[in-house]
Amino acid sequence: MIDSRPVSFSGVQPSGNLTIGNYLGAIKNFPEFSEKYKCFYCVVDEHAITVRQKPAELRRRTYETPALYIACGLDPEKNTLYVQSHVPAHAELAWILNCFTMFGELSRMTQFKDKSAKHADNINAGLFTYPTLMAADILLYQTDVVPIGIDQKQHVELTRNIADRFNQLFPDTFTVPEPIIPKAGAKIMSLQEPDKKMSKSDENENAVVRILDDRDTIIRKFKRAVTDSDSAIVCSPDKPGVTNLITIYSCFTGKTAEEVEKEFEGRGYGEFKLAVGDACAAKLAPVQEEYKRLLADKAYLESVMKKGAEEATYYARKTLSKVRRKVGFVNL
Ligand code: TYM
Repeated sequence: MIDSRPVSFSGVQPSGNLTIGNYLGAIKNFPEFSEKYKCFYCVVDEHAITVRQKPAELRRRTYETPALYIACGLDPEKNTLYVQSHVPAHAELAWILNCFTMFGELSRMTQFKDKSAKHADNINAGLFTYPTLMAADILLYQTDVVPIGIDQKQHVELTRNIADRFNQLFPDTFTVPEPIIPKAGAKIMSLQEPDKKMSKSDENENAVVRILDDRDTIIRKFKRAVTDSDSAIVCSPDKPGVTNLITIYSCFTGKTAEEVEKEFEGRGYGEFKLAVGDACAAKLAPVQEEYKRLLADKAYLESVMKKGAEEATYYARKTLSKVRRKVGFVNL
């Protein structure tokens, strides 16, 4: 059971149909971590309920998300793949960390500010303390690295601060984690408002490409993508629409941005957008096929979740009992 490799931890919320942003910024990169790291991948259902969810949909997505991870190439035998609420230590540690996290720190989190603006009728305490639950996720496993997209970097920085603060009071409790952000694809932008992150909860369906969108839908969405006034296919800060499409194309084809610019020199947007749609649909087709097969086998998915929860619990309990001892709780 003891594994001496460094630890990697990452999570995805089962709060919507996952996008190519989640895929390129996070999930696609997960399988390659399995060799070097002991990896934990968590479906964070407790984070998801910080905004209102329909219970039946949340339950359905809690099956769909691990199926998608596996369909994207993650081997559940080599990785610990599990659901957050199946390991109560996350919520327990989160409470303790809440008492070591400052109100001011949480108030500065941009995701909290964005989500409170978006859900003004439901700015609940869970939304506010979301980052301490995320810190608990990470710190429970003595995590060395956290592979994420750019939008989660601020949360990992807060996690580091909480870990440092706790370690100063109670030495050698937590490993202080480092974020790992991919060079390309760390922030895929909306196809309709390219100055905004592509988000699975966007109400404009044309702004997001979902991992499970069929080929025609993918091609149509890219065709409608907002581009910029002149027709040159080049990366530039004043051409966010085209720059985003070049990033997406380069992530799906493995070509560099310069190679893409060269390939489409003198060619029009129409042709380029079709090529982006084609490359994306071609990469996602086998993922979708495997996903359908896996989703039909609920018993298998439950066995993966169960094995994952048992493994995660083993590691989580070790940290939790150490933390409980350090803060002065009685362990019976
Ligand atoms: P979530 O569910 O919003 O997103 C999951 C992962 O996808 C990345 N991502 C993106 N990457 C590139 N471009 C985009 N447009 C894009 N949108 C999302 C995210 O950065 C993330 O890596 N709080 C986290 C879930 C979480 C977690 C954790 C992550 C909970 N506990 C512990 C790491 C470690 C979240 O809401 O991710």
